[in-house]
Amino acid sequence: MKIGMLTSGGDCQGLNATLRGVAKTLYNLMPNVEIYGIIDGYKGLIEGTWRKMDRSEFSGILRRGGTILGSSRQPFKAMREINENNEDKLSLMIKNYKKGGFDALVILGGNGTHKSAHMLSKNGVNVVTLPKTIDNDVYGTDMTFGFDSALEKATSVIDAIHTTAAAHGRIFVIEVMGHKVGWLTLYAGFAGGADVILIPEIPYEVDAVFEVIEKRNANGSNFSIIAIAEGAITAQESALPKKERNIPPSSGAYLANVLNNRLEQDVRVVVPGHFQRGGEPTPTDRVLCSRLGAKAGELIRDKKFGRMVAFRGNTIITVPLDDVAGKLKYVPHDCDMIREARLMGISFGDNRAE
Ligand code: F6P
Repeated sequence: MKIGMLTSGGDCQGLNATLRGVAKTLYNLMPNVEIYGIIDGYKGLIEGTWRKMDRSEFSGILRRGGTILGSSRQPFKAMREINENNEDKLSLMIKNYKKGGFDALVILGGNGTHKSAHMLSKNGVNVVTLPKTIDNDVYGTDMTFGFDSALEKATSVIDAIHTTAAAHGRIFVIEVMGHKVGWLTLYAGFAGGADVILIPEIPYEVDAVFEVIEKRNANGSNFSIIAIAEGAITAQESALPKKERNIPPSSGAYLANVLNNRLEQDVRVVVPGHFQRGGEPTPTDRVLCSRLGAKAGELIRDKKFGRMVAFRGNTIITVPLDDVAGKLKYVPHDCDMIREARLMGISFGDNRAE
């Protein structure tokens, strides 16, 4: 069999560990398999750029950050746009898939990637996908790879900031990545001991945040830590129709500025940004990547295509792309973790308590 592999969208820790997991399984199950690395994600498939991988290239990459294949963002909505030769990206990808003589593609990516993979699958391309992203928002899996490693990074930032906040009696607003969902902020906020956790799923009131700070000051804690998701918005903005919302470029900078105008204490904002996506995968991610990779290899051997491998409970399962594409996995408002956080007195900026 001739298999093409690609990594698409924003990078994260564990991409190489996953490629390795798939490759080791394929070489083990099908000694004559040929693996091709498609360069820079869907871009390589659109442009016909790939190279035959040597088995040795998958050695020694379990811990390496980034991706040995390169990655790029190719928005789903641009896939059907027609170029000057009257071809769209989908038709170019299908043409190159056939030209390359591939039997199947292994696609590592997040939400947008899954929409495109689903479209390829519906158009006759054999695909197996693996859920990647620090945001943990891919539908159909409890956990995406990259999430645990980013969680460690985001938590380490909150931990470090804690000591400075306490030393200076300051308010720190730490803006955590996560795109439109709050998983990373919820977990990092919990793990880092944040006093307030603001996530897109629960629009917040500035007054409620202010009250937490005042209450802590009155109780003798003259510093506060606020973990805010990059996608968090105020209740006032969220009440507006989407087109009329005035979303600031940085949710953290916005909140810090508002608080600064109302408080005597110093307020500072920290935006760890892409630091959260960098470096080595955690041991938990390495295990997840390897398990998902092994399952993907097995699916290919069994010629079961059009599916994503996923983690549910402590089991690796497979989910049809029909059930994954176009859906986001949000933090449920009433999930146990939110309830437990509220029990501990952690505020979500919405004036609700358990
Ligand atoms: O999806 C991963 C992610 O890091 C999001 O958390 C963030 O919103 C986005 O990618 C940043 O994208 P870029 O790397 O293109 O700036």
